Amino acid sequence: MRAKTPSESRTVMTDLVLPSETNPLNNLFGGELLARMDRAASISARRHSRRITVTASVNHVAFNRAVPLGSVVTVEAAVSRAFKTSMEIFIDVWIEDRFTGERTKANEAIYTFVAVDDTGKPTEVPELAPETDLEKERFAAALRRKQLSLVLAGKLKPSDATELKALFLD
Ligand SMILES: CC(C)(COP(=O)(O)OP(=O)(O)OC[C@H]1O[C@@H](n2cnc3c(N)ncnc32)[C@H](O)[C@@H]1OP(=O)(O)O)[C@@H](O)C(=O)NCCC(=O)NCCS
Repeated sequence: MRAKTPSESRTVMTDLVLPSETNPLNNLFGGELLARMDRAASISARRHSRRITVTASVNHVAFNRAVPLGSVVTVEAAVSRAFKTSMEIFIDVWIEDRFTGERTKANEAIYTFVAVDDTGKPTEVPELAPETDLEKERFAAALRRKQLSLVLAGKLKPSDATELKALFLD
C-alpha cells in the first residue's frame, strides 16, 4: 500500500453556531462540537484508508475557548499517524472574526479511528508520510498517545508501554 501524506486526508468543515446548539451562556454546547469533530475525523480516516472506519477512542479534547452563538466555526482534521489498522486523527478548531476574518484557534482534539471490513473486523491501512514540521511533530508523539489510550482502556499493561516509560523514566 502506498504511504499517504496528511494533506491527502485533510478535511475542512465550516459551519455556523445556531441557537439550538448552545448552552445557557449562549456558547456552543460541548457535545455539538464533539459531534462536528467526530464527523470531520471520520471523513479524514476514510480518505486515508478508503475503508469503513469507526471511532475507537477520543484520546484528548481541550475546550480552551468558548465559541459564542453566531460564530463561524471551522473544524480541520487530518490523519497524524497510521499504525496497523488504527489511525490517529488530529483536529484543530478555529473561529473566525466577524469583521476582519482573522482566525483564532479555539479548541483541539485527538481521536483514534480503526478501519474495518464489511464484517467489522479491523483491516490494514496505508502508512502516513508526514511532510511539514508540525506534521512530523504530531507523528512522533502519536505512539506515546496510542499507548496511553490503550493503558487507560485496560488494553495494554503499563509495564509494556515503552514510550510512556521512556517519557517518565529517562
Ligand atoms: C474499534 C474496534 C474495531 C477495535 O476492535 P478490537 O477487537 O479491539 O481490535 P484490535 O484489538 O485488533 O484493535 C484494532 C486497533 O485499534 C487500536 N485500539 C483499540 N482500542 C483502542 C483505544 N482505546 N485507543 C487507541 N487505540 C485503540 C488497537 O491498538 C489496534 O491498533 P493497530 O492495529 O493499529 O495496532 C472495536 O472495538 C469496535 O468496533 N468498537 C466499536 C466502534 C464504534 O461503534 N464506534 C462508534 C461508537 S458510537
